[in-house]
Amino acid sequence: MHRSLTPSETTIEGLVERAQDTTAPEGLVFYHANEGRPLATPWQVAALRAGMVGRHRLPEGWVLDCACGSGIQLAAYATALKRPVLGVELAEERAKASAVNVRSLVEHSRASDEDWYRSSRIISGDGTDAVGVLKSLDEPWTTVAFLHLDPARPRNSRTHALEEMQPPLHRVLAAWAPHFTPSDAGPAILLDLSPRLTTAQRTEVEAIVDDTWPGIARTWEWTSRGRGRVDRLALWLGGVADPDATRRFVRVPPSMADQPVILRSTTLATELEERHHPPKRNEHVSILDAALLESGLMVDWLARVAPNDEGRWATLEGRRPQLHHERPLQLQSGDQRLIQATGRVVELLSFTLDETTVDRLVTVALDHRLSSVKLRFDLDPALQPKLQGSLDRQLKRRHGDRVGFVARHPHGEVLLLCVSPNTSDEPAVI
Ligand SMILES: C[S@@+](CC[C@H](N)C(=O)[O-])C[C@H]1O[C@@H](n2cnc3c(N)ncnc32)[C@H](O)[C@@H]1O
Repeated sequence: MHRSLTPSETTIEGLVERAQDTTAPEGLVFYHANEGRPLATPWQVAALRAGMVGRHRLPEGWVLDCACGSGIQLAAYATALKRPVLGVELAEERAKASAVNVRSLVEHSRASDEDWYRSSRIISGDGTDAVGVLKSLDEPWTTVAFLHLDPARPRNSRTHALEEMQPPLHRVLAAWAPHFTPSDAGPAILLDLSPRLTTAQRTEVEAIVDDTWPGIARTWEWTSRGRGRVDRLALWLGGVADPDATRRFVRVPPSMADQPVILRSTTLATELEERHHPPKRNEHVSILDAALLESGLMVDWLARVAPNDEGRWATLEGRRPQLHHERPLQLQSGDQRLIQATGRVVELLSFTLDETTVDRLVTVALDHRLSSVKLRFDLDPALQPKLQGSLDRQLKRRHGDRVGFVARHPHGEVLLLCVSPNTSDEPAVI
């Protein structure tokens, strides 16, 4: 049974949670029904993605989200694409939240009089029953321009098996395949999947897609909001596949006012290997973004920022992937967001850093005219702030005019004191 809701006529009655998404414009508050909030797409991701979909030419028809949850992504599509949206949600109260959230965003954007908004609908019911959904509509359109699917996954699932997704991918694709508006580019579909899918599971997803549309164009996209973590993994298909990329990495900027960093690749991901190497003065050490590494696009990025510099991976595991290389990185704007630290090794420290030895590090740092040294290796969490605080206090207001960091050489107990570029006589970032 499908029930159609018109956003402008849906009230907030029964919606238990009202929350300001910290990345959403001021004054815009979203509603969630029971347990809907953790499932919702963060506003900034939703808005950025809607803008990227908007760069593709879509045929006539609905923008459909057939598992729309609280409708945050759907609302972002509505206002960015200025097209009628159709959301379907199994949980009745969540369907209501979707209708309210679409209305709130449209009102916030002062677009309540637009035809696309008046035609938009949320259907409470099963998103895998395409015929049932379309029958419940009072609108004349029967075809889909673009399909978004962000299936629910059990929380705390370790396996993230594809079978756990609700609604199941294969059922959604098979059900909606006959209802796309014909288009030369093929159906336009975005599958928003678990960032923890393995390579084998990604191949499985591709096989499910190929069952319905063999050989359809595809772009895998890893999205990170920082902190070295992949936040979303999505497959863009057909009419929204990136003609310049089979794989894409998007680093969402901290503020909506800034541009995202987008890296593209058309080649297969290369396997990387750690290489053991004794610590060496004057080589360069970079601690890079763990999410970029996880996305498999690190090699593509390094080809630009470290051309003809093969480099050696000292650490590939954990939060601080560490690369050793011969020359400074050639950074352009935005690249800084993919780097935790980079610099030239000026000193090898063979003592263990603790409260009794921190003054020795201060002396060496001052010898190298450093006014700030950040500790970029794993330390006991109780000790780290004490040591960092001591360094900050002692180096501030001395004669230093350069900044640097300490990394740990992964083999042997050697610490590497490095000076970052862009300070005094170090080569500048271009
Ligand atoms: C991850 S949430 C979607 C969140 C959404 N993208 C947002 O921005 O708020 C997935 C939703 O799919 C819904 N769902 C599961 N099976 C469904 C089905 N067969 N039909 C429609 N919705 C379904 C769940 O109730 C859940 O709300």
